[in-house]
Amino acid sequence: MNKYAVIGNPIEHSKSPQIHAAFAAQTGQELEYGRILGEPEHFAEQVRSFFAGSGKGLNVTVPFKEQAWRLADDRSSRAESAGAANTLILMPDGRIRADKTDGAGLVRDLMANHGINLTGRSVLLLGAGGASRGVAQPLLEEQPARLVIANRTAAKALALAQELSALGPVAGCGLESLAGQRFEVILNGTAAGLQDRVPAIPDDCLVPGGVIYDMMYSDQPTAFVRWGHGHGAGLALDGLGMLVEQAAESFFLWCGTRPETGPVIRLLRP
Ligand code: ATR
Repeated sequence: MNKYAVIGNPIEHSKSPQIHAAFAAQTGQELEYGRILGEPEHFAEQVRSFFAGSGKGLNVTVPFKEQAWRLADDRSSRAESAGAANTLILMPDGRIRADKTDGAGLVRDLMANHGINLTGRSVLLLGAGGASRGVAQPLLEEQPARLVIANRTAAKALALAQELSALGPVAGCGLESLAGQRFEVILNGTAAGLQDRVPAIPDDCLVPGGVIYDMMYSDQPTAFVRWGHGHGAGLALDGLGMLVEQAAESFFLWCGTRPETGPVIRLLRP
């Protein structure tokens, strides 16, 4: 039996085993998908011993995405540019390849599931940590009119925008510089939601009827989704669709089959 797992810390609340079990049932793949509690001091050993057994692929979550990237023998271009990996693949020659599927998952959820086209739109990405870094390039590939990356610590947003500047019209700034600016799509990649908070953004920075997207997911509406509902959003989405889509992209890398995501998103939505 081919073995797969998600590794992170904490890990007990991960929905990945349920998602991949649903994909496997749907596509007729025989696989086992478990959870591994990663240990910061022993992460690389844990990964290597998983692949030395009958492990074929791993999903990697917080806080190990950068370590996963470092230990890989080979990297996709999207992993390379993100500096982080959420998917590890055992290749036929025994080497471990890193990929990054979150950005593709986000874009697919926006476009395929919700019909939101980013081309020519004004897009605001909040946060400049790992979550935002992982999606900024795929967002720019959709050719928005402009992508502004705004962060509590302005310097981090400026640095990230600088790195991406060859890819399209991107600018970085602090949250306070958003005063007077308006966006059609606002994506939240900050960790503020972990404290049920939203980043300090102006009340009028969303165009009426615009789109709010929280990359975080919770069984209850997230703080950012609630902010959207209170500030005129036409659509306020959480990250459940992104979670399932990034999983589908990993599943495709491992098994060569693209599962249908709609039924799995509906299965998980409380
Ligand atoms: P991750 O890998 O999940 O993105 P991270 O690298 O620690 O985690 O980044 C967290 C992001 O959330 C950062 O952009 C952080 O802003 P700072 O760079 O200024 O720390 C942002 N963040 C966390 N709490 C926030 C809050 N209460 N308001 C606004 N931004 C917040």
